Amino acid sequence: MNELQKELLEAASSAEMQLAETRDANALEELRVRFLGRKGLLPALTAKLGKVPVEDKPATGKTLNQVKNTILQLFEQKSSELQAAGGGKTQSLDVSLPGRQRPLGHKHPITRVMDETVAIFRRMGFVVADGPDIEDVWHNFDALNTPPEHPSRTPEDTFYFGLQGDNWLNPETGILRTQTSPVQIRVMKSQKPPVRIICPGRCYRRDTPDATHGMSFHQIEGLYVDKNVSLADLKGVLTHYAKEMFGKQVKVRLRPHYFPFTEPSVECDASCIICAGKGCRVCKGSGWLELAGAGMVNPAVFENVGYDPEEVSGYAFGMGLERTAMIRYAINDLRLLYENDLRFLHQF
Ligand code: PHE
Repeated sequence: MNELQKELLEAASSAEMQLAETRDANALEELRVRFLGRKGLLPALTAKLGKVPVEDKPATGKTLNQVKNTILQLFEQKSSELQAAGGGKTQSLDVSLPGRQRPLGHKHPITRVMDETVAIFRRMGFVVADGPDIEDVWHNFDALNTPPEHPSRTPEDTFYFGLQGDNWLNPETGILRTQTSPVQIRVMKSQKPPVRIICPGRCYRRDTPDATHGMSFHQIEGLYVDKNVSLADLKGVLTHYAKEMFGKQVKVRLRPHYFPFTEPSVECDASCIICAGKGCRVCKGSGWLELAGAGMVNPAVFENVGYDPEEVSGYAFGMGLERTAMIRYAINDLRLLYENDLRFLHQF
């Protein structure tokens, strides 16, 4: 083996060693210039072939070719390794690959029922109003004519902030609203009649969660104040809502009830959509489902917000959305709505 052949073999193993340590495309390019570039090692060695004695030429030429091929192959291999690892200078992009699927989300059943309810009332001329989830005692209770001794006001039933002694009777104490009714107060305090609003929102009560109760739930509040508003108007609006929501065959009835902020007060029922009023498990045999609490706005409430009860009258209603969603989608346990289990939610 002559000198040149030795140098050639050394060049090959040196290339192999240095390539093994190459980690990125820039280093690879530098190395390529050093070995294969116009002024690189391999062309220099090739030039030396001319000085090799004639009888040695065939063997040396053969070594030269082998070494050249080996080194080219080593570079090729390293280059594809780096590209596969993502560090290649030019990213390989296979445009024929199918795109990556992004799972599409959809609305939660509660949100759907809420949006539909809002849409139905907006078609009847109601506008959406909003109020804070963190309320104060005055807006949630006092202004709504709810006396201090009313059982719903105790800390056993309502979430208070900074509870100390009997400060839960203080009008300024913060609470999580127990109903959307305080939005009635906020709207009436901020504008003159007429008022025609609905207010969807979250409410909070200290209940032990079970199949039909949660610590937080959703209501839609409605309020209509104008001259000569009557209970018949209320029934008409709720009937239209029930037919839009559950179907034309649904019947609506009003039952006497009590709320401090309405007088008279009613409970509004819709005929059971599961059994068409015959009586089943869902309606507990009665043929009716509770739709909303409602009534004519109590004159005391008008006075609290500075409206003249001699001038105006109005109705208000509040309905629970969880119940509507459960009936609508035949869900038998309210907790399913809040567990965020996608296997459940994907069904809607
Ligand atoms: N706020 C009442 C409740 O949570 C419902 C209601 C609203 C009743 C408006 C009458 C008028 O039960």
